[in-house]
Amino acid sequence: MNKIYLNRNIARLILLQRIELLGPIQKKVRKLFGRYFFTNFAAKYFMVPSLIGKKYLNSMEKEYEILSKYLNFDNKTILSIGSGMCGLELIINQKAQNNFFHIIEKNYVSEKVTYGWDNNNNEAYNNLSLLNIFLIKNGMKKKTFKVYNFDLDSLPIAKFDIIVSLFSLDYHYDFNLYLDYLKKILDEETQIIFDTIRPDYFENIFKNVKILQDNQNTVHKSKRIICSKLINRLNNI
Ligand SMILES: C[S@@+](CC[C@H](N)C(=O)[O-])C[C@H]1O[C@@H](n2cnc3c(N)ncnc32)[C@H](O)[C@@H]1O
Repeated sequence: MNKIYLNRNIARLILLQRIELLGPIQKKVRKLFGRYFFTNFAAKYFMVPSLIGKKYLNSMEKEYEILSKYLNFDNKTILSIGSGMCGLELIINQKAQNNFFHIIEKNYVSEKVTYGWDNNNNEAYNNLSLLNIFLIKNGMKKKTFKVYNFDLDSLPIAKFDIIVSLFSLDYHYDFNLYLDYLKKILDEETQIIFDTIRPDYFENIFKNVKILQDNQNTVHKSKRIICSKLINRLNNI
């Protein structure tokens, strides 16, 4: 993929979802004028959409490279939790064959994005109409994905081969928010990948836990882990 379609509103969301794409001037503006100003004005007007698109594509290709060392994405049913603008899903769709993506996201942008740990899980930065436009305009076929609004829709029940949640589940909000749902859908083969500051905690939840990467240049110093096989006693809780 050499070029990505995006407009200013989509680029703004990408910038909020992937804060590492900020240039030095944007970082300064954020520091000087605060998060409210940054979220609502600077993230939209103090940037060049095509440049954000280029950087985003680059980052997502790197993410794909890391994940594809451990996972084969061909012929898979994939669940994405907090996928952001789905740059990773676009790359998977392009590089692998015959996938279906179920995508769970929120449909609003918080007034002031802080990137903290949010126990109430109120913070969000997405717009599901823009996400649909972004996917279709970048070549994803309508019949290969479905988007679910976390706050309004019933979440999909299916046999998932891979669940991916980069910098969302257990990075910004507690894994346990999804535990009951995950108990319904995880089977013996499902692999789940997410970023967390507490990898050891998951040794009591999954039989297999492996660290894929150390995230040093992110807001929270976290590890990316891949887990499988829920420990049985959890199924009875
Ligand atoms: C830091 S962004 C990461 C986006 C994307 N995974 C990436 O790596 O570019 C976190 C995303 O999680 C979403 N989010 C927050 N709470 C969520 C929830 N309960 N379920 C699904 N997505 C959620 C936000 O709207 C936001 O798009």
